[in-house]
Amino acid sequence: MTAKPKNNKNNKPAHKIKPKVITPTAKAPKHGARYVAAHGVREVLVDGTPLDIALSGQALFVQLERRDRAFARLIAATVFRRLGQIDKVLAPFIKKTPTDYALAVLRTGAAQILFLDTPAYAAVNGSVALLRRSKKTAHMAGMANAVLRRVTEQGQDLLAKTSTLDNIPTWLLKSWTESYGVEASQKMADMLIQEPPLDLTTKPGIAGPDGEVLPGGTVRLAKAGDVRALSGYDEGNWWVQDVSAALPIRLLGDISGKRILDMCAAPGGKTLQLAAAGANVTALDKSEGRLERVKENLARTGLKADIAVGDAAKWRDPQNTSGGGFDIVILDAPCTATGTYRRRPDVLHNKKPEHIDSLARIQEKLIMAAARHVAPGGTLIYCTCSLQKREGEGQITKFMQNRTDFRLNSLLGIEDLGVAETVTPEGVVRVLPHFMHEKGGMDGFFVASLSCG
Ligand SMILES: C[S@@+](CC[C@H](N)C(=O)[O-])C[C@H]1O[C@@H](n2cnc3c(N)ncnc32)[C@H](O)[C@@H]1O
Repeated sequence: MTAKPKNNKNNKPAHKIKPKVITPTAKAPKHGARYVAAHGVREVLVDGTPLDIALSGQALFVQLERRDRAFARLIAATVFRRLGQIDKVLAPFIKKTPTDYALAVLRTGAAQILFLDTPAYAAVNGSVALLRRSKKTAHMAGMANAVLRRVTEQGQDLLAKTSTLDNIPTWLLKSWTESYGVEASQKMADMLIQEPPLDLTTKPGIAGPDGEVLPGGTVRLAKAGDVRALSGYDEGNWWVQDVSAALPIRLLGDISGKRILDMCAAPGGKTLQLAAAGANVTALDKSEGRLERVKENLARTGLKADIAVGDAAKWRDPQNTSGGGFDIVILDAPCTATGTYRRRPDVLHNKKPEHIDSLARIQEKLIMAAARHVAPGGTLIYCTCSLQKREGEGQITKFMQNRTDFRLNSLLGIEDLGVAETVTPEGVVRVLPHFMHEKGGMDGFFVASLSCG
């Protein structure tokens, strides 16, 4: 059995991959959610497509009832939260290597049997039916039936012999263990199997929907659901933003009237925070499509920012063409996003070490470009939602070797998140996903603050 996913044939960063639209056949609506989930899982693992695109890019997905779409998402997300454990349970029953799609059907079937409330007969029959649908796969229907029946009978016993560590790809687990130790890595693995809560950042002085108010002001709701249905959405009182992602701007204190460049701004969480705090913000991003999201968010919240489209590595400030025109520059750099795995469990499975190399090169260029826009005495904030130190601490070390006119500001004592280890002795923020685990955890995040001159 090919227990390990074949990763990203194209070896492209996930955000550059266009979804392949799968056209449903006339029979598609039967077992539609399972069909969409299995194709989505296959596409993430084989082509490296992000899961939300792999699901929503399927023509059938939009035809599904809302409830079935949610079920398709739940099945696929469960596969990515539990992939290693699922494969260990399946392995003894698979005698001949199945095709990528048949393996995806087995994985989605096993996810339903082992972890969801689906009756086992429905999971088995539904999975078998997916393979019977096409002449190309019909010959594997008998095998799937036999395998999934054995998972039904023996799966829980086999599952008891697995560990949540099995769900972390080997190379990632090695890097986490080297960076954060064995105990932290185990806790990080345990966070992957939990559905994360929903975090909202509210406009200053405005209360959000009923939820737990975390230190720093984030409102935490236990379940995600449809955000548009929550109170205050239409009024633009708040926006969705993980508590970790809100940190870099919270660290800045009073920024009213400051000129601030948000260099990689879309979809705009930090731009909204800056604008709500009274700063004069320029929101720059190279993606016009993603900047539309920033515009929509600004319109909904009634906040203002100047929008600029362009490559931040080359962008010139029209007000200061020689640079140095901003009090503060925020670089929330493109990264592997491994810190967001609680909400996007597929990020752990569609990334490879090569992606870190190519993203690190981009980050290096962008941080040098960001520094050119900082006014003397101004501040540069560098942050990423990656857990890989090379994309965080490593970039800062390199940058400070190149730009000796910048110094690292210690963030110790600036923000009390109720989690003592958030700020390292070096004075940078390194959030790990199990911090605040009793309340549902946080996205992994890195933040450094540097002063110019
Ligand atoms: C981590 S996201 C930013 C999230 C955003 N700061 C927020 O808080 O909502 C990274 C963004 O960088 C943008 N990006 C990637 N490379 C870029 C470049 N060379 N110039 C400008 N933007 C870039 C991407 O389009 C993406 O929107």
